Amino acid sequence: MTKTAKRMLALMDRAVTLWRIPVIGRAKGRLVRRLIERHGCTRAIEIGSLFGYSAILISGAMRPRGRLTCLESNAYLAKLVKSNCATAGVGGRVKIVVGDALRLLPLLPGRFDFVLIDAVKEDYLDYLRQLEPKLVPGAVVAADNTGIYRRDVLPYLEYVRDPHGRYASREHVFGDDAMEVSILRS
Ligand SMILES: C[S@@+](CC[C@H](N)C(=O)[O-])C[C@H]1O[C@@H](n2cnc3c(N)ncnc32)[C@H](O)[C@@H]1O
Repeated sequence: MTKTAKRMLALMDRAVTLWRIPVIGRAKGRLVRRLIERHGCTRAIEIGSLFGYSAILISGAMRPRGRLTCLESNAYLAKLVKSNCATAGVGGRVKIVVGDALRLLPLLPGRFDFVLIDAVKEDYLDYLRQLEPKLVPGAVVAADNTGIYRRDVLPYLEYVRDPHGRYASREHVFGDDAMEVSILRS
């Protein structure tokens, strides 16, 4: 990760101790970074980018050949993601696609080995089902806010936790929130 990227993330981490900004933040960010490094992920996608915090984190955690596709429905925010990623020195690794993820996902080319789901909570399961044909075996799927929005994401949790299903899934608790990490079985 570049020094500027680290500095930008650290600045944001400090800001979110006072401001309520819905980024994944330092603790969950550490988990995401560990997962990407441990599984050697190089083809990532995130659904919901806000202004680029998680995009900088994910793209910075991957090896230099790693690539991240960001789906962001708000055109203004998408511009901020692009500009912040460029400032952080990861602009060349990040592709930003503007629009509703549910419409975009079926049209996306390529396959993915890392997913961060962090947009409309009630749609988590639909995002995943649409992505599934594009996931490689062993793909890592991280779903944010499964603690504070538990009721909204319940269908998602039931699906990824089905013992006879396609995933080995585990909840990581962070205070009153959680991140569900599911690995697509080979
Ligand atoms: C919680 S924020 C994402 C935070 C970001 N992942 C981070 O940690 O830095 C959710 C984002 O999802 C975007 N969003 C909401 N609905 C969406 C949709 N249907 N498709 C794509 N993005 C969407 C919102 O505009 C917002 O920027």
